[in-house]
Amino acid sequence: MEMDRMDENDWKYHEEGNKSLVVCHVQHCRVLRLLKYPAEDSENPPQTAEQAFRQIQNIVDFTSNVMSRLLGDKFVHSGEVVRLPLEFVRQLSIKIQHQRPAWRCDKVMDIYSGCALCLPNLTTPTQYQPTATPPICIEIKPKWGFLPSSKHVSRDIKTRVCRYCMHQHYKVANGKWKRRSLYCPLDLFSGNRQRMHFAIRHLIEEPQNNFKVFKGGQCIYSSKEGSEGSPDMNALLHHLRPYFLRGNNRVNGHMTAKAVLNDFIQVLVNALLSPAGGDGGPLTHRAPEGRSFCEASLFSNERVRHGSQGLPSSSVLSRILQTQMLDALDIEGLYPLYCRVEQHLQDFPKDRTRLQIDGPYDQNFLENVQKSSMEDDGSVEYAAAKVHQYRIAMTAKDCSIMAALVPSVKEEDDDEGLSSQKHLRDFRPQAFSSSVSILDLDPKPLDSIPRQLRLDQKIVACYLRTGGALPMGSLPLLPNFIAAAEREDRTLLFQPA
Ligand SMILES: Nc1ncnc2c1ncn2[C@@H]1O[C@H](COP(=O)(O)OP(=O)(O)O)[C@@H](O)[C@H]1O
Ligand SMILES: [Mg+2]
Ligand SMILES: [Zn+2]
Repeated sequence: MEMDRMDENDWKYHEEGNKSLVVCHVQHCRVLRLLKYPAEDSENPPQTAEQAFRQIQNIVDFTSNVMSRLLGDKFVHSGEVVRLPLEFVRQLSIKIQHQRPAWRCDKVMDIYSGCALCLPNLTTPTQYQPTATPPICIEIKPKWGFLPSSKHVSRDIKTRVCRYCMHQHYKVANGKWKRRSLYCPLDLFSGNRQRMHFAIRHLIEEPQNNFKVFKGGQCIYSSKEGSEGSPDMNALLHHLRPYFLRGNNRVNGHMTAKAVLNDFIQVLVNALLSPAGGDGGPLTHRAPEGRSFCEASLFSNERVRHGSQGLPSSSVLSRILQTQMLDALDIEGLYPLYCRVEQHLQDFPKDRTRLQIDGPYDQNFLENVQKSSMEDDGSVEYAAAKVHQYRIAMTAKDCSIMAALVPSVKEEDDDEGLSSQKHLRDFRPQAFSSSVSILDLDPKPLDSIPRQLRLDQKIVACYLRTGGALPMGSLPLLPNFIAAAEREDRTLLFQPA
């Protein structure tokens, strides 16, 4: 890409999160991820162009030298910082403004620094022919996959109900979402296919900010904050149906909504469990010490006892979970160590560099963090290493998985098989090849730690106050769509052939 000959017409609005806005190239598989600033700051940028460049370079370094080594370089794309002409950025910002969702417009795109992060477009993993079937990509923000087992945890409820489920109550109680999601990360991270299926079904039902579907690079399914209704699942099924027609469960040549959904989820579960992480990386695998079942999950306890497969160690979910578990002390055990670091930095401000508080996230950073001793010797070095581990875990708790599913043409061409084999194939969902990536791996700032403690306290207090009960109407009345799909199934089954 020639940065001095950038034309805003070659780019279009793609997606945005809380911290960044993403535009994609109309032809090449590239995106630009630009910083966002609070709208109040739109007159004067909160940082200089050099600071913005440094911030993005830090993201690249942290992604490649820390997160990629923990999560596996097959999953991680660190990208590169690019400098863009300011005129291009300004025109781009004007061009895309009307496509932005209103609820994200409390922040504006950075038009001052001319810096951005350039990444491969993970929603169009291959340059597919316009005539070929476009790839389907699923973005999942899985959140925390384990219950803390740290001795510093002061409230027993935190060892029984997962953070995500408690946070859902808090968000519904505070009006951020109208309905509670029945997704529980512990189900997704269980490695048990039934539980994973259950988790994904509920992500689809109530996607909030945790689930999106793209087709040919275009987002076709997501939810809007504060909106009353659920996104249009029928439209999603309409998009998905052609991908699964060759699969099983056809009744009278028609594929039921439930069958499409089941096949789709099954293919996604396969992608999430596929071993693709390259070598084992520097992590020693640690199984969750606490319980691996969340009391708030509606997946019945009974069913869990029947077979729990666990996650294949090189799968994307296992790698994310292992990295999340670098938070071994819980925020309650970490906070005093954070205070020790803060106190030390007040007394010896120059040590900020030596302790690599704001980076650089170079090759040595992870080694220094990992060689920290297990026992607290009262030193600031020990505290800083634990704080760094916690920040790495925070990033892993907040990242997204992008699973790209490309229908394989191979099977279609293969008509050599015996009819019995073909018959067998018909009982499997359509074959896909998948490629899985992890995105949004920015370092979390040191000063987010006190906020984490306050948030933790508020979430737990809210959950204990309401006893896990939510106001009427905030629970999706048993997944209405799925119930409807099941009815549809029955009616179809009982129709005369
Ligand atoms: N490399 C990429 N390819 C395709 N889509 C992307 C890519 N990076 C980000 N996105 C999309 O943009 C959204 C916002 O990007 P993200 O990195 O999560 O920013 P934030 O830090 O603001 O959450 C993501 O949820 C995803 O849908
Ligand atoms: Mg994000
Ligand atoms: Zn849960």
